[in-house]
Amino acid sequence: MTATVDRDRLADLQAGEDELFARTHPRSRQLYEQAHVHMLDGVPMSWMTRWSSPFPVFVTAAEGARVTCVDGHEYIDFCLGDTGAMAGHSPAPAVAAIARQAAKGVTTMLPTEDSLWVASELARRFGLRYWQTALTATDANRFAVRLARHVTGRPKILVYNYCYHGSVDETIITINDGVPGPKPGNAGPPVDPTVTTKVIEWNDVAALAEALAPGDVACVLAEPAMTNIGIILPEEGYHAELRRLTCETGTLLIVDETHTICAGPGGCTRAWGLDPDMVTLGKPIGSGVPSAVYGFGRTIADRVRATWDYHATDECGVGGTLAGNALSLAAMRATLGEVLTEEAFAWTVPLAERWADGVQDVIDEYELPWVVKRLGCRAEYWPRPVPPRNGGEAAAAEDEQLDRYLHLFLLNRGILMTPFHNMALMSPQTTAADVDRHTEVLCEAVRGLKGVDGVPVSE
Ligand SMILES: Cc1ncc(COP(=O)(O)O)c(C=O)c1O
Repeated sequence: MTATVDRDRLADLQAGEDELFARTHPRSRQLYEQAHVHMLDGVPMSWMTRWSSPFPVFVTAAEGARVTCVDGHEYIDFCLGDTGAMAGHSPAPAVAAIARQAAKGVTTMLPTEDSLWVASELARRFGLRYWQTALTATDANRFAVRLARHVTGRPKILVYNYCYHGSVDETIITINDGVPGPKPGNAGPPVDPTVTTKVIEWNDVAALAEALAPGDVACVLAEPAMTNIGIILPEEGYHAELRRLTCETGTLLIVDETHTICAGPGGCTRAWGLDPDMVTLGKPIGSGVPSAVYGFGRTIADRVRATWDYHATDECGVGGTLAGNALSLAAMRATLGEVLTEEAFAWTVPLAERWADGVQDVIDEYELPWVVKRLGCRAEYWPRPVPPRNGGEAAAAEDEQLDRYLHLFLLNRGILMTPFHNMALMSPQTTAADVDRHTEVLCEAVRGLKGVDGVPVSE
């Protein structure tokens, strides 16, 4: 499509969608204008400016797989808070547990019984014995990286080009024209990230071997499949090489399952039989109540215990006053125990297959040079003819103009997609009819772009 989209036509269609959105969202527009008085760019969090609409939709309620806005429109939500609401919005068992706990004390800096259940459930799911808590996946990653540096005594970490692990300073690095450096737009980096970090392309075993050979890397921090620059699956044998090379060089392997929990109850770690030293996970595990965890095995636990200065643990890089609070633990127990269960994945994964099949049908029917990729209950399409092998290839295929148009076309017809991706996530409350509605509306968007419904595309 990239090659065949008429850009003038796309600009005209975009103007029509912008106008339609503005006309049908007067209350959101009013709130957005008022919001500029005390919030930077009229939003409480900067990412909210990244939606495709001229101003954000202000929400009144979210329930299951539905969001309702102040203008009274209802949306089928495939964004699901960019995975934060993968359990569905306000699932009943979590709401009940959260309400119960909120009435009994939110935070005391003392453990509750729920913590035992959560840690043992995580051990069962991911095969790692010890678990600690944080409030965000960013923090879980920061703490895991700190522990890796602490126990190995090594200065560097290694990440993949166009990875995303939250706002962890060391990870905001890309390969720019062949040279590692700060990711474009990196705001106020404390040091040049090349001081702390090596960055290589995903699926490149030779680059990995070369980067680890000097023995100065404490850990590799990796999603088991990249998800933040589109879904990029590991090539056959890549994980085996990653594990072999990290073991041979004494480098710890941290697997960030925050998005890849979409692959199943134990993420890719369990689905693919991976054997990481540490696992990090956040976002959906508390049904939206800030909750995150990081886990590791006995060897790391012993190395931490042997070297940890317990008098300094409150101020020395790993912690957070509210981490491990009773509310997060109650939310995690209910979410893991009653919502993001085996049965839930047995429902959501086939829905994502259906979604991907529907998109593939549109691609085939209109001969679009696009690919659709899926991982568990997450699926996504890309405007390039073959799947990218790595982050650099994926980033080069980005088509912001086309993405913005497709997102807004869908939003104007009651479908929310994640702003940064053409990505859809299925929740336990998503239905086959929701999925088919997406296929239908996408088809309509493509017909418009192709000029099928009357006006021919000038090439
Ligand atoms: C793989 C991964 N890890 C960590 C994070 C950070 O999560 P949070 O913003 O909740 O800290 C993200 C956020 O998108 C992510 O995709």
